[in-house]
Amino acid sequence: MIKIKTIGRIPTQEELARITQQTKVMPFRICYAGEGGDTWKVLRQEETYSDKSVGNREITTLQRSISEIAKLIGAEPINLIHIGPGEGIEIPVLFERIKPTNKAVYTGVDISKEMLVNTARLQSAQLKGVKPLWYQTDIETEGNLELVAEETRKQGAKRNLVCLLGQGVISSNEKSWENISQCLKSGDFFYLTIEGDDIARRDEICASYDLPFVRGLISIGLRRAGYDTRKGSFKTSFNPKKSRAEVHFTTGYRGDILSLTSYKPTPKNLQKRLIRQGFEIKHLKFYKDLHTFAVLCQKRNH
Ligand SMILES: C[S@@+](CC[C@H](N)C(=O)[O-])C[C@H]1O[C@@H](n2cnc3c(N)ncnc32)[C@H](O)[C@@H]1O
Repeated sequence: MIKIKTIGRIPTQEELARITQQTKVMPFRICYAGEGGDTWKVLRQEETYSDKSVGNREITTLQRSISEIAKLIGAEPINLIHIGPGEGIEIPVLFERIKPTNKAVYTGVDISKEMLVNTARLQSAQLKGVKPLWYQTDIETEGNLELVAEETRKQGAKRNLVCLLGQGVISSNEKSWENISQCLKSGDFFYLTIEGDDIARRDEICASYDLPFVRGLISIGLRRAGYDTRKGSFKTSFNPKKSRAEVHFTTGYRGDILSLTSYKPTPKNLQKRLIRQGFEIKHLKFYKDLHTFAVLCQKRNH
């Protein structure tokens, strides 16, 4: 069994359910605990999701960009803070070039304990010889990531690399990036891979969210928020004004719930947002064929 430390403030399922009912916008993190962890595991192994779709675009971008990112970070030991590892599928690629050894540690951070357990089990071979730290927290709540970053520094090397890889849903809440920016100190880095917008392929982008296992995951959240998913219908669309894909769940009797949002920026929109959140962009590459970005940032000095 791995040792998971719960840190900071995590909203309860009841609080998240209440937010959904009052605002008609479901905080997606309501889905991931318990049964949600296992649904994600099945989804990750689903061919339709991983081979053709969003999951594949972001991991390929990680593979293509990792050498350049490792060069820019330099050889000094650096801790990896991996946000929302899920299945930990990014670990082998990260470790190929940035393996945390020689004082540095690997820190997995997730709101769902099940995801951390799955990552530790599925990546046990990769984690041999590495000192992993496991934290359960909500990175969308202010102050939590700062606590994780501090504890990581205390137990590992002096500098951190915060990794947000393939996390369009977490990124659709700008507060997440604000919290990442706040946890960075001088010498730290932020590594981001994210699928962007492509006007010609918006239908394909949206189709990822209509897959049965994705609907299954959304339905877990909706049921936890008190909605009967048999009495309504889903519709996915692209909202260019907000640079995001949106999944709406419409019930005849209780109106419309915005049940998932996933940030899909244009290059201009992405740069503007990074600057607004106090990042200094060290590297930004758009892989056109995958319409996905790889970005490395540091905290801008004011
Ligand atoms: C879409 S999965 C992606 C996992 C992995 N990057 C992959 O592509 O397989 C999202 C992950 O982020 C975690 N997560 C979602 N919201 C979170 C939050 N607010 N704080 C911490 N972890 C969160 C989920 O539990 C899950 O492990």
